[in-house]
Amino acid sequence: MLIDDHFNPRPTDIIVATSPKCGTTWLRALVFSIINRNSFDFSDHPLRKANPRDLVHFLEAHIRGDGSTASIDGLPSPRLLSTHLPYSLFPECMTDDTSACRFVYICRDPKDVLVSKWHFANKLRPKGVPPLSLEEAFDLFCKGVSHYGPFWDHVLGYWKASLESPKKVLCLKYEDVKKEPLGCVRKVANFLGVPFTPEEENKEIVEEIVKLCSFENMSNQDVNKSDTRSQEKPISNSDFFRKGEVGDWVNHLSPQMSEILDQITEQKFQGTGFSFHRFLVLSSSYYLCPLCCSFNNV
Ligand code: A3P
Repeated sequence: MLIDDHFNPRPTDIIVATSPKCGTTWLRALVFSIINRNSFDFSDHPLRKANPRDLVHFLEAHIRGDGSTASIDGLPSPRLLSTHLPYSLFPECMTDDTSACRFVYICRDPKDVLVSKWHFANKLRPKGVPPLSLEEAFDLFCKGVSHYGPFWDHVLGYWKASLESPKKVLCLKYEDVKKEPLGCVRKVANFLGVPFTPEEENKEIVEEIVKLCSFENMSNQDVNKSDTRSQEKPISNSDFFRKGEVGDWVNHLSPQMSEILDQITEQKFQGTGFSFHRFLVLSSSYYLCPLCCSFNNV
């Protein structure tokens, strides 16, 4: 309602959209560095001095109860904004075909999302409050009790929009970006209408962007290593970096939990054309990873 009433969308707006813990930090960094690639030197890049959340404005945080949107109204075009809101909550003036603003969405295997959320929730747990058990987190997640609504509905909202309006919504999967970061960066640049030129390809700009935004590089920047919690920002930059891996759920979820989550996912996505890569359980201690086609010891 606040966005409907107060936000003034521009046709050039680029919205980075995610359900929490699906790769918001990573996608913010990637899109920021793609669209600003001619403005900064990679060795002295803003991403080496600031967390992506300080470079990409979080829409929900800027549209407050009093309706003031001054902080984002003053930004130059094209504005890069970030959101966790489901697609269905955006006003028609942003989602219908007459609007030119674009959404880049990333989602992730819900088993990894749950594990990431659970760790994150416990990091932010106030002192004196007992930790959230994995069982409790699992139960809530499966029931759809998540920030910004049930995970599966969030994904489907953007997925369906990407099918109906492929020029407006691009859907990425965390697992695909991990596997083929160069291809995904090119895809995002093409989608945003700023494809890499042959000169840029020769200069390996795509490779520079992938390196700059990699988990290894970003999590090792001083700005992301230090504890930056404050009253204004109760979440520290370092809280957004944990492992950054595909399939870490095998270290936490029981086979029953993973089976239940896979079943929900299958039911929810049936007939939609959307699926996540699956890890096939071969024995109690080995998984076949369809991403890298290798056997992984649990
Ligand atoms: P894990 O908890 O599985 O490690 P969000 O940014 O949406 O809050 O998501 C956080 C998750 O993304 C965490 O996952 C975090 O480690 C991972 N992440 C953060 N930066 C990343 C990067 N540059 N590349 C890959 N994953 C990253």
